[in-house]
Amino acid sequence: TYVIAQPCVDVKDRACVDECPVDCIYEGERSLYINADECVDCGACEPVCPTEAIFYEDDVPEEWADYTRANIDFFELRGLGSPGGAQKTGALDYDDPMIAALPPQNE
Ligand code: F3S
Ligand code: F3S
Repeated sequence: TYVIAQPCVDVKDRACVDECPVDCIYEGERSLYINADECVDCGACEPVCPTEAIFYEDDVPEEWADYTRANIDFFELRGLGSPGGAQKTGALDYDDPMIAALPPQNE
């Protein structure tokens, strides 16, 4: 799967959302999150992010390793699971607690 890391927080450009063929990039309050169960590893999202927030799971920088966990936990925190589409799910009003606790980012 691919992972969205720190450079997305408080930016949420959303260019990635338009590229994803399976609509598996979900919107939280301060960041977006890739659903590992739904992502087909096409890689289309990675080059379009203007802040370079998206990484293949094996290439996530060490300093952002916890974002791999956050992208998974986001879907378990409130039982979202694999809804099968971010568009029909809509924007969600929460974040992984690690991200929710961050001071304002990327200003
Ligand atoms: Fe975030 Fe980049 Fe997508 S800033 S919303 S990961 S295009
Ligand atoms: Fe979508 Fe990116 Fe995965 S475009 S299928 S989230 S690699």
